Amino acid sequence: TRIFIARDAAALAVGADRVAGRLAQEAAARGLDLTIVRTGSRGLHWLEPLVEVETPEGRIAYGPVTPADVVPLLDAGLLGAERPAAGHHPLFLGPTEEIPFLKTQTRLTFARCGIVDPLSLDDYRAHGGLAGLTRAAAMPPEAIVEAVTLSGLRGRGGAGFPTGIKWKTVLDCPDARKYIVCNADEGDSGTFADRMIMEGDPFVVIEGMAIAGLATGATKGFVYIRSEYPHAIDTMTRAVGIARRAGMLGTSVLGQGRSFDIEIRTGAGAYVCGEETALLNSLEGKRGVVRAKPPLPAHKGLFGQPTVINNVISLASVPIILDKGPEHYRDFGMGRSRGTIPIQIAGNARQTGLYEVAFGLTLGEIVDTVAGGTATGRPVKAVQVGGPLGAYFPRALFDTPFDYEAFAAAGGLIGHAGITVFDDTADMLKQARFAMEFCAVESCGKCTPCRIGSTRGVEVVDRIGRGIEPEKNLALLTDLCNTMKFGSLCALGGFTPYPVMSAVTHFPDDFVAAPVVEA
Ligand code: NAI
Repeated sequence: TRIFIARDAAALAVGADRVAGRLAQEAAARGLDLTIVRTGSRGLHWLEPLVEVETPEGRIAYGPVTPADVVPLLDAGLLGAERPAAGHHPLFLGPTEEIPFLKTQTRLTFARCGIVDPLSLDDYRAHGGLAGLTRAAAMPPEAIVEAVTLSGLRGRGGAGFPTGIKWKTVLDCPDARKYIVCNADEGDSGTFADRMIMEGDPFVVIEGMAIAGLATGATKGFVYIRSEYPHAIDTMTRAVGIARRAGMLGTSVLGQGRSFDIEIRTGAGAYVCGEETALLNSLEGKRGVVRAKPPLPAHKGLFGQPTVINNVISLASVPIILDKGPEHYRDFGMGRSRGTIPIQIAGNARQTGLYEVAFGLTLGEIVDTVAGGTATGRPVKAVQVGGPLGAYFPRALFDTPFDYEAFAAAGGLIGHAGITVFDDTADMLKQARFAMEFCAVESCGKCTPCRIGSTRGVEVVDRIGRGIEPEKNLALLTDLCNTMKFGSLCALGGFTPYPVMSAVTHFPDDFVAAPVVEA
């Protein structure tokens, strides 16, 4: 019998290794014929460590499993059995694919994540891998770019810029040397889609990068991974080695005569190095400081050469577009937001994890139905969408559909699609202060609005909190936010006003200081 247990960092953090170790030990002692396969995560984080048993009817899930549960599960005959007796064990979750959180998803990008052995290229092929690259290898570059453009894919790092147009810009550059850079500096708190796919299905990222290389004429790619992701760094490094030995990368990609290779690089812990120009500086061995744009990286990027710099998920979405055709991908979604988006649910939610779905679900459906409300059981007060630089949404805006334009119209952004849930005990003034403080800590220091504005911002919020000239200071905060929004060089200073001003606008009561009681 095959048993599947994730070796994704989120599963490891709650003891997946200990569960797998205990199971291996007990199975050996009992002479059971069990094979433990370590996979990526299914993304059902509140159920990790999830243990799945292969049966003729598909995989049956148990979770969350602790090492102490292993012996009782084996004693009940549940982990080695061909057909586990249904329903009687408290950890029994039924067929994995029938768990509503998973069943209601549309997994295009994450189709293999949690199912395959991440480092088995045979598994990858058996589950549809390499079909996109095989097609691309037989196409002229223009046709590959055209397919990506037609699919409607937009940058999943947060800005939503059309991927096909970015690739076309690089393809049209006459330079002999071009680069593909995969931005895996996933710094947004509460987001983990990049990490999950790198750990759970690394070959899809490699395949997407190789397709980008063939499409633009770039022969070298870099993956820039944040140092806080040691498991992703390890998995990606090993996967690149396997891909090279199998001819998926190298001087003749899939034996078709075109060359593409990848190098893995590690960041050093700066949030701003996720900003593309700071990332390029860091890759060049310089300090991670933002560059002024223009020139765009597509024209003058890494080492001054035309560079496609895309987020992990943007690149990982490309293989299925080439495989199934751009129409297949474009048919999902709404408006100008096409395809699927991996929503990452974190914070005070009952069901946390990754939920890949076509654009268009409302924020309320995501929070109330998919996430099942708060973990504390208290009413939802606010949801921050788009990481630490995203706006706070009150319940009054829960009918906003998950769509780039709809979120912008509501004064927010989708960003990298992380949502963090807060219950009614949250103090939104503290959250606004935190945004300014975060910006002050993480600012690269190159531009004044971000470097100084954030520090002044903390002070102004503190004065409001203490009830000092509240009207004057609220006006000052608004003015400061406008200066940061329109005067900063990059999105760090430019977007910090989103959490701050959305908190002020939607939760004004939290910005009224308690009256000071005179002694
Ligand atoms: P941007 O709008 O300046 O650029 C988006 C992308 O399009 C860039 O790669 C840019 O070079 C490219 N581009 C723009 N015009 C182009 C043209 N005419 N031709 C070719 N390429 C062109 O946005 P930026 O500053 O890159 O990203 C901001 C976003 O980053 C925010 O929306 C935020 O949500 C997100 N973000 C994501 C984080 C994460 O951890 N994933 C962390 C922090 C912010």
